[in-house]
Amino acid sequence: MTDQAHIPTGTLQTGDIPGKPTSASRTTLSHIMTGSDTNLLGTVHGGVIMKLVDDAAGAVAGRHSGGPAVTASMDEMVFLEPVRVGDLVHVKAQVNWTGRSSMEVGVRVLAERWNESTPATQVGSAYLVFAAVDADGKPRRVPPVVPETERDRRRYQEAQIRRTHRLARRRAIKELRDRRAAEGLDARADAEDRHGGPTRGPARPVTGRAPGRR
Ligand SMILES: CC(C)(COP(=O)(O)OP(=O)(O)OC[C@H]1O[C@@H](n2cnc3c(N)ncnc32)[C@H](O)[C@@H]1OP(=O)(O)O)[C@@H](O)C(=O)NCCC(=O)NCCS
Repeated sequence: MTDQAHIPTGTLQTGDIPGKPTSASRTTLSHIMTGSDTNLLGTVHGGVIMKLVDDAAGAVAGRHSGGPAVTASMDEMVFLEPVRVGDLVHVKAQVNWTGRSSMEVGVRVLAERWNESTPATQVGSAYLVFAAVDADGKPRRVPPVVPETERDRRRYQEAQIRRTHRLARRRAIKELRDRRAAEGLDARADAEDRHGGPTRGPARPVTGRAPGRR
């Protein structure tokens, strides 16, 4: 059976840690955008939205794991529509998936005019991985998340696919770097940095002379 076939049920327990339903930690963070949130184009800076995303996801990870949790990665941050001054932004976050000490938190960003009763539209989304940590900053175990609805179960399965791809990508990049280091290619790259351009033959030692000068 693959990982993707395994979705925790309400009765599942991992070791001595009982599962927690998705709804127990689902959180929404809302904020009205003001002039201090804008970029040079006059719309809201992407970094302002990313901070709200990280804040909401961090609250969810802390609530689910029952203690401190740190952001390990943020990926697939998508901005679908510009956010404007006067928009009331809602950042909705929930645990999609849990591993041993890590949690994937899915976030949806919605915006509506602060003083109009028009429906909110989705303006962005992101997936973050948090690791629960102990007092020494070392990873600690988390309760398995128990998806409650069909949508939760779909998100759980999709999160497992992303997890598989993240691990495979990290492994492939590490293998490539190890291979290049073993072949001495990284030493040549360092030499190129020092010389400000490509080098031929084996990596050369530093000469102290500025690149391109006689
Ligand atoms: C995240 C951190 C605790 C991981 O520590 P580590 O010693 O690498 O521990 P591990 O390799 O056992 O990883 C712990 C878990 O996190 C996951 N993880 C670690 N790095 C990850 C990454 N870049 N992307 C996705 N998952 C990651 C691992 O897969 C593992 O999951 P699992 O226990 O569910 O299988 C550590 O790297 C850290 O403290 N980073 C800084 C976090 C921080 O300061 N964040 C704020 C950013 S400013």
